[in-house]
Formats: sequence, structure tokens, C-alpha cells
Amino acid sequence: MDLAKKAAGEKAVEFIKDGMIVGLGTGSTVFYTLKRIGDLGLDIIGICTSVDTENKCKEFGIKIGDINEYVPEIAIDGADEVDPNKNLIKGGGGALTREKIVDYRAKELVVVVGENKLVDYLGQRFYLPVEVLPFCWKRVKSELEQMFEKVVKRDFVTDNKNYILDCYGRIEGPKTLERELNNIPGVVENGLFTKNTGRVVVGKDNGEVEII
Ligand code: A5P
Repeated sequence: MDLAKKAAGEKAVEFIKDGMIVGLGTGSTVFYTLKRIGDLGLDIIGICTSVDTENKCKEFGIKIGDINEYVPEIAIDGADEVDPNKNLIKGGGGALTREKIVDYRAKELVVVVGENKLVDYLGQRFYLPVEVLPFCWKRVKSELEQMFEKVVKRDFVTDNKNYILDCYGRIEGPKTLERELNNIPGVVENGLFTKNTGRVVVGKDNGEVEII
């Protein structure tokens, strides 16, 4: 068990009350959030960011709502990197598009991470995932290769039936880059999250938690 992830994932449940509409992220840290919501029997409506999270909600007895009908009051989600300005890289699990759809619409995005996810700049340890249409993925890959040190197609199909291109290299100006990437025809979404992050719940390896 990863104590840092567990500490962060469970702590975020303190921000959730009965009756809330809650965006539910994807990944191994949010797993602990979902499990805790289920263990406490909290009566919420979860807006899920992946099929995997939908399945976990069913397992843990959490009601599922539709993003077309509900606006999340809060979203709880993991991240692959968090920079000092609370910009994020997400999508290590390939769920970035639905995550952004839900997380950006929530009144606050609460991020749950182990302390190893805090970086000085984005791209320091992780790659940037970009979801692309299968129709033109090679074309988009060539274009991304002009912008990044290395681009690798992941052997993976997203919940939206698309591909993921993982882009390596230091990210300068994440806000601008987020928009530029989404302007490339064939790009569905990218894993830069530069808006809406509120509290970041950081789990430590010793099980303590810090909120920044
Ligand atoms: C899912 O696609 C990702 O955005 C996850 O939220 C992110 O990779 C964090 O995952 P872990 O909590 O498993 O590290």
C-alpha cells in the first residue's frame, strides 16, 4: 500500500458532505477517496471521469450522475505532476479528457497527490499525455515532434476510443501550451490543467498530510 496516496485520498473526503454533487477523478490515489466515501456511506452523487471510476462507484455503493445534468460543487482528482503555481500534468491513466470536462466545470478542483508529485516545473519527471483521434494520429505525432523532445504512442485506447501520445520534455508556459495543443486539428484534449485547482492535498510517505 502507498501510504502517501492513501493519506491524501482519504483526507479529501473531509471536504465532502451528504447531498453534494462531487466530480470523481481517476487513478490509484482517488481510489482511496472512493473507498472512504463508500466506507462512510456518504450520500453523494458522483460525476465520474472514467469507466474505471464508474465501476469503482458501483462497487463502493456511490450513486452516479451525468455531467449533462449536474454541476459538481467540488471535484477530487489525482495528478502526475503539480508545479508551484498549481498547474498540473494529468492523464497517466489515460482519463485526461473526461477529467478535464468534469474538473474544469467543478466549483473547485481538489487535487490529491503523494509528495513525489510536486515538481519545480512541468515535464520534470513525467511526460505530457495528449489524446488524439485515431484517424490522424501519425500526422499529429509528427506535428508534436516539432514541439517536444520525444513523442511516444501509448499502447492504449481511451474510454473515448482514441489514442494517447506521450510527449517528453520541459514545459514552458503551460497555459499557452494548453491552448496551442488543443488548436491542432485531431487533438481531442491534452493533460495540462492550468485552471481551477484549489486545494492540493499532499500525502507524505510517513502518512501525514499537508494542504497547500
Ligand atoms: C488519470 O488519467 C490521471 O490523470 C490520474 O489522475 C493521474 O495519473 C494520477 O494517478 P495516480 O493517483 O494513480 O498517481
